[in-house]
Amino acid sequence: MNPTTTPVRRQLSHPPVDASPFPYNPGSLLSAGDLSLDGISHILARATALENQDPLVRNRILAKRRVALLFYESSTRTRTSFELAAKSLGADTTLVSSLSSSIEKGESLKDTGLTLRALGAEAIILRHNSSGAAWLLESETRLPVLNAGDGMHEHPTQALLDLRTILAHLKAGAETVTPETLAGVTVSIVGDILHSRVARSNMLLLPRLGARVLLCGPKELLPELAALAGPGITIERDFEAALRQSQVIMMLRIQAERLAGLQLDLEEYKAAYQLTGPRLGTLAPTAIVLHPGPIIRGLELTAGVADGPQSAILEQVKNGVAIRMAVVERALLADKQGGRA
Ligand code: CP
Repeated sequence: MNPTTTPVRRQLSHPPVDASPFPYNPGSLLSAGDLSLDGISHILARATALENQDPLVRNRILAKRRVALLFYESSTRTRTSFELAAKSLGADTTLVSSLSSSIEKGESLKDTGLTLRALGAEAIILRHNSSGAAWLLESETRLPVLNAGDGMHEHPTQALLDLRTILAHLKAGAETVTPETLAGVTVSIVGDILHSRVARSNMLLLPRLGARVLLCGPKELLPELAALAGPGITIERDFEAALRQSQVIMMLRIQAERLAGLQLDLEEYKAAYQLTGPRLGTLAPTAIVLHPGPIIRGLELTAGVADGPQSAILEQVKNGVAIRMAVVERALLADKQGGRA
């Protein structure tokens, strides 16, 4: 697969979820767009319930169940939080990374997945540099597959933990979501939209809850076509104008590993799009700053902003564990919970 391509299913107009062959397994989470509003509400409620549960009770939920983490790209937050989440529920986890495994010898994704299944894995958490890899792995193994980031395509659990952070700040931690839950809320996503799977998953999630999404960045990192991504999504190239309208600012890293020769003038970029203290002053005091991480201090935002009172970046990280507990539980108990939500 070419890492720069979008899977065929995503290039077509979005089919109704039930008309799609994916996901095969009711426990899978491949795309933020595959979740119904009931499904999102269920995950949010379970995240809170599991977070508050006695750890000695919680770690019996998936006692001795086997979860494999299959990581072809580096990760700190996603990998650690998925592992902690699965272990908190009592599951046994094993990590296979592209370095130090037979992937280095040329073993394919399909064969690696079938091998993990034969070894007893009951669910696979996959990060891969190719867009669509999670769909391929699911179709070959039919196991529950949790997409932990596929190329430039999607990162659905990041969007869910971003949502949990937004709801905690702006909607008193609401857990039941409707098409109006985020009505009146403007979320600006700023920076390297083109290469961002986080942006794409949030664009599939937030407008369905009533949020207005502004995309902000230079033409090289934000093509005009992005405005056609769906209802509720528009482009605002003027960063100050986006800040003035927003209750949530989601800053993105420039994904140097995916630029494929694209040359950017970083001083020009910072002059136009770096979130600085003075720019933060144009935001409402109740507005929050998000970033999926890793942050590059001094590039997309200053250290003062990252560490400042409006930054919810470490809350996002913390919410990752709760959301991923709910998603791992759903992966392994989806049949008992009544199938795909
Ligand atoms: N947000 C995120 O995916 O971070 P990692 O690459 O560290 O997992």
